[in-house]
Amino acid sequence: MTGARRVVTPSGSDDHVINGVTTTSWEYADADTQHLTHNIHRYSGKFIPQIAARAISLLTKPGELVVDPYCGSGTTLVESALLGRRAVGVDLSPLAVLIARTKVTPVPTAKLDSLRRDLTSTLENLKSNEDMPLFRASSTESALSSQVQRDPRFNDKWFRKWFQPKVLEDLIAIDLAIGQVMDARLQDVARVAFSDILRKSSNAHSGYPNVMFDKNAPKRAKPVKPFLKTLARVCEMISSLEKADARWEGVRVDLGSATALPLEDCSVDAIVSHPPYIGSIPYAEYGALSLKWLGADPKELDKKLTGGRRQSPDVVERFRAGYDRMLLEASRVLRPGRHVFLMVGNPIVRGETVDLAAMTLELAERTGLQLAVRTERRGVNRRANKMGAEHLLFFRKIEHLRRSDPRAELSLATTEVSEVRSRQ
Ligand SMILES: C[S@@+](CC[C@H](N)C(=O)[O-])C[C@H]1O[C@@H](n2cnc3c(N)ncnc32)[C@H](O)[C@@H]1O
Repeated sequence: MTGARRVVTPSGSDDHVINGVTTTSWEYADADTQHLTHNIHRYSGKFIPQIAARAISLLTKPGELVVDPYCGSGTTLVESALLGRRAVGVDLSPLAVLIARTKVTPVPTAKLDSLRRDLTSTLENLKSNEDMPLFRASSTESALSSQVQRDPRFNDKWFRKWFQPKVLEDLIAIDLAIGQVMDARLQDVARVAFSDILRKSSNAHSGYPNVMFDKNAPKRAKPVKPFLKTLARVCEMISSLEKADARWEGVRVDLGSATALPLEDCSVDAIVSHPPYIGSIPYAEYGALSLKWLGADPKELDKKLTGGRRQSPDVVERFRAGYDRMLLEASRVLRPGRHVFLMVGNPIVRGETVDLAAMTLELAERTGLQLAVRTERRGVNRRANKMGAEHLLFFRKIEHLRRSDPRAELSLATTEVSEVRSRQ
């Protein structure tokens, strides 16, 4: 297999992890990555579910707690529940949290059916009026139509730029209709479907992952039909959750930062995560259309993300500081002797390749996390190839590190480790 490297650890108690990591390939080139809810919404830089599942199985037992501090669309959380583990996911993006929470929340099929029925009948009238602005005041003006006209987004510069007038009217109507859904779980399901159609309904160029304005954008299709179609697809995936043999009730998703985890010291059994690719995947930019409809400000989010504001000259330094903080937090919340798994690529930032694997190794060691074993995968998608191989790094928290600030104990720990190494 590609590039597996054993690391001699002082305790030698990582044998099962080392064997599990080095015996077979991590490529999963032909794996089905779409099972259950993994495909309810696009999300850049997703984990391959099989990689997350393998790491979770290697590092934990059923009932134990797995944490993903950069949970994104929630791949680690779905796979943890399927393996009977508890899980906590944290992400700063409200879009990520919406997708991840929806992915792991079962809803009875009967309820999903009534959601589709109700939204279809509310929105059906819109569909028939193809050539006229929808909900335009008429003698039989509906309550929804007058709400659309009064909605601040209807005359907002940003919304006017990104959506053609008739499309915008329909989108506002759909959004208002979703807002009327009382059950929060059902509202989330509908919001995921709504978010997933925004890109195609907008004036964004279709050929780029970035949301780039296309001043020659062709006339866009009205969104009601695509929304109802996507809703049907999302509902079908959500209804599969109930039938799956999984522990959904043990999963929690928090809107928050990896730099301040909402968890007690020494309470977590494994960290399984896939950190941001610095500026190579600008999450706030890619999700801008959805974030705006969720009431978030993509620019403000970009300032907070680890690796955000990708054009600024200090982006790598800021990334490093935030990433370091996450590693300290990971070390704080992890039980001594347990593991952190991180998969990183080497992204190109402002024209230069950043050795994220080397940065991870350097920072982790300083937070009391020792490398247990590492390996590589070539990666099969375009972006991963552009970033070269992906590095799979497994760290183990030093046994005696118990206090809330791992670095405070670190000089002692480092001395101890080097003593053990020099004896080998
Ligand atoms: C590579 S993606 C994770 C993808 C995830 N593994 C999946 O399968 O969908 C990295 C994530 O880190 C999030 N992020 C960046 N900085 C963060 C921070 N300081 N705290 C929490 N999340 C952050 C981004 O919003 C993004 O969702």
